[in-house]
Amino acid sequence: MSHRDRWSSNAAFLLAAVGSAVGLGNVWRFPYLAYKHGGGAFLFPYLVTLFVFGIPLLIIETSLGQKLQQGAVGVFRKIHPRARGLGFLGIAASFIIVVYYAIVMAWSLYYFLQSFSAELPWQDSAKTYFYAEVLDLSEGIGVAGNMNWWLVACLAVVWSLIFLCIHEGVNSVGKVVMVTVPLPIFLLVVLFIRGITLEGAWNGISFYLTPDYSALFRAEVWIAAAGQIFFTLSLSMGVMIAYASFNKKTENVLRDGVIIALTNSLISIFAGFVVFSVIGYMASTTGQSVADVVASGPGLAFIVFPKALSLMPWASFFSALFFLTLLCLGVDSAFSLVESINVTIVDSYENLRKDRVAGAMCLICFLCGLIFTTDAGLYFLDVVDHYTSNVLLLVIGLLEVLVVGWVYGADKIRDFINHVSEQKIGAAWDLICKVVLPAILTVLLVTRLVEEWKAPYEGYPAWATGFGWMVVLIPLAIAAWMALVPDEGKKD
Ligand code: PHE
Repeated sequence: MSHRDRWSSNAAFLLAAVGSAVGLGNVWRFPYLAYKHGGGAFLFPYLVTLFVFGIPLLIIETSLGQKLQQGAVGVFRKIHPRARGLGFLGIAASFIIVVYYAIVMAWSLYYFLQSFSAELPWQDSAKTYFYAEVLDLSEGIGVAGNMNWWLVACLAVVWSLIFLCIHEGVNSVGKVVMVTVPLPIFLLVVLFIRGITLEGAWNGISFYLTPDYSALFRAEVWIAAAGQIFFTLSLSMGVMIAYASFNKKTENVLRDGVIIALTNSLISIFAGFVVFSVIGYMASTTGQSVADVVASGPGLAFIVFPKALSLMPWASFFSALFFLTLLCLGVDSAFSLVESINVTIVDSYENLRKDRVAGAMCLICFLCGLIFTTDAGLYFLDVVDHYTSNVLLLVIGLLEVLVVGWVYGADKIRDFINHVSEQKIGAAWDLICKVVLPAILTVLLVTRLVEEWKAPYEGYPAWATGFGWMVVLIPLAIAAWMALVPDEGKKD
């Protein structure tokens, strides 16, 4: 292990981790969840879950990676050979997520290119444009239809970009994030200034910030907030473990964890202002109320927002800017997911060449992503996203805290954190790790399962929800099998 790669500096690690955390989840997913779940009221569960388990789990993951100097599988194998399946679960989740994450980037690329047309093609009906032209959406998940070749081409470009960023592992990643992290933040600030100076902007913002308190009593809001915290902090997927494994053993994990988490959430909240100010403008130009204008789901970034942009002066310029922002935001999150898988492979088979592993992974992910370029792609994306972020990530998070709290030892991890950090954490940590976090995650998970039991997700046919469950259950079954079969793994 002596030749393990290193970040060139702590700043490179922080940038890469922030780059992973800040992504489409902040600008595409967070605003529509906030809207769907009660506007300002969503912020409360979001912040509570951030502090209660988001930050602790992030610190646990970075501490494990940094202390044990391995990717996810290696870390859990070191904790207990039978727990190695947990690491496998993380990289399986990474794989599933990055496959559909890249397609959202492909849409962004497509829109970015279209922004240069003489007339913005979504100007008249952004909805028809997205559904009928870009996606050629079929009438149901059962009708797959054809592949959309433009999307296939954009997806290929996205995967080539990701490959370029990671072909030299941590060395190239460390350089790329110097651009891909600050640039979209700068672009967001530009869009923010444009947004708040538009007429009607404050209506949109007050819509975003006005709470619907009844939402606080709905379990699904809390689950969505928890799912978003996992997604946005890149937790449960081995990403933070892998990135922290390239740190020196002495970095201040506590400070780093807090910096990463707070920066990420601030950017989410900030992105909400950008999105809703522009939506407020659109409402006032079209004489509608904000609630009528807003669409939930992926439509917010690809229907409502482009439409709003098309109404403002310099429409093409600001559209190009927005989709470029999405692309830059997405790319460092996407490659962190691929890195999490690659690190594990390269850790286990040291004689493999990093660039070849990266190339092969990108190709495999691209091929698997083709299903989302079909006419039923959006439905598949919706189903897969739902089951992975609301069920699989919660299960992994729960198993992770149990294994760390009880098998590895909450006190051992606390000692490590206190050893490398200036600020110290007290003995209450052990209780939080062993009891509080597992209890909360269990409640969330059980509630989720009850909801699933009561009604099929969004009324999809049984085979489609079955497909969603397969995506969750197959990795879980493999992990369970790994827990039962002794580890024949080589070195310790
Ligand atoms: N955190 C990223 C986002 O919010 C997505 C992501 C999830 C990246 C998991 C890496 C791992 O967009």
